[in-house]
Amino acid sequence: MNYWVAGQAASSGDVVEVRSPHDGALAGTTSWATPQDVERAVAAAHAVAPEFAVLPAHARAAALDHVSRRLAERADEVAALITAESGKPVKWSRIEVNRAVSTFRWAAEEARRFSGDLQRLDTDPGATGRLALVRRAPRGPVLGISPFNFPLNLVAHKVAPAIAVGAPIIVKPAPATPLVALLLGSLLAETDLPAGSWSVLPVPNSAAGGLVADPQLPVVSFTGSGPVGYSILETVPRKHVVLELGGNAAAIVCPDWTDLDWAAQRIATFAMYQGGQSCISVQRVYVHRDVYDAVADAVVAHVRKLGTGVPRDPATDVGPLINEAAAERVEAWVAEAVEAGARVLTGGTREGAVYAPTVLADVPEGCKVVAEEVFGPVVVLAPVDSVEEAFDKVNASRFGLQAGLFTHDVRLAFKASARLAVGGVIVGDVPSFRADQMPYGGVKESGTGREGVRAAMDDLTEQHVLVLTGVEL
Ligand code: SIN
Repeated sequence: MNYWVAGQAASSGDVVEVRSPHDGALAGTTSWATPQDVERAVAAAHAVAPEFAVLPAHARAAALDHVSRRLAERADEVAALITAESGKPVKWSRIEVNRAVSTFRWAAEEARRFSGDLQRLDTDPGATGRLALVRRAPRGPVLGISPFNFPLNLVAHKVAPAIAVGAPIIVKPAPATPLVALLLGSLLAETDLPAGSWSVLPVPNSAAGGLVADPQLPVVSFTGSGPVGYSILETVPRKHVVLELGGNAAAIVCPDWTDLDWAAQRIATFAMYQGGQSCISVQRVYVHRDVYDAVADAVVAHVRKLGTGVPRDPATDVGPLINEAAAERVEAWVAEAVEAGARVLTGGTREGAVYAPTVLADVPEGCKVVAEEVFGPVVVLAPVDSVEEAFDKVNASRFGLQAGLFTHDVRLAFKASARLAVGGVIVGDVPSFRADQMPYGGVKESGTGREGVRAAMDDLTEQHVLVLTGVEL
């Protein structure tokens, strides 16, 4: 597959084979972008920025709507490609495509209504007859660095808001999963967006430093691991950096929750979906002691029902991790927990890149499967004596992305929102719920800045105030 330099297809002789983590089958090929092509893309983004910033909303919205429509038309093919390159079970790939359709559709809608605010200033005698128009202007061209776990929709969350506000964007897709981002490029190439307003450049991680440091790209939007994210922040402290990093998301099951089996089924599904390779997959579950045994038994029963197998089979729930090294790391972390006294309620085995869906109990708190981000199909269950104790345990983490709270008590929901140090609390469900239009991001070491279409548009722009004088208000 070609890569995309300033909206034009390009390739180099430096071929990259992309293979399925499931069976090593060839998903497709592309090539590494040459340093000259990278330079060309960056220069074009810089050059087009003033023109793109004032492109009429209808032109930006039309391009975004086009991509949304074409993704929907080609949904089966796109889902199959996600599965082929990442090993994600096709049932989850289809959901990801549907989400990307909606991410682009929302961006088109937001582009049409992104108008700024009016603020009257005549609230003091000295400003009689004055009015402020608070408008938003792009901060400048964006470097979007995306991860392998949602190789389409997390690219969409970089590209769609940038186009919606008129900021040129250069996407550096994850080296393991560049193909679907390149396919997205072919849909952008069908639009009338100005040359230079977008590029998709597969470059190895070792070559990304030059892009990060390039002064022509004043905004860096990164989704991925904490160490890489923080090294970007330290390298370019004067740039506007958005970081979507990891988490060890928790769910709390309160004693008032009536349908314990449904909660257990949601926990089992969203601890294991796409092999747990989501920043908001359920990793820790704190269950009130009154209902702990019932919930633990039901979680184990639902996990045992999950089908592991061939990712392209629609019946498969859990596929491989992105590579064998990732599965070996998860295996080592579970072994560390068991050594420290944890009990394996189900799972705990590995075959190549596939780690069996695993439920652990009695895990000491310092173990990596509790304290770090597992990014694998492992969930840790623990009883608590009160909801307050559960809140303390959720907060005893260096991460804070989202939390789930199974309760019917609306006052408890507000209390959780006030007390939990996380970017979002999902009441009545797991922390893994995400609607693509809602603000999404973390506190503490889970990151800085927000995605979610409108929130990202705010983040990619800065306020410009225009004060009118002598107007009748
Ligand atoms: C992530 O892994 O941060 C993204 C989760 C999602 O979009 O559902």
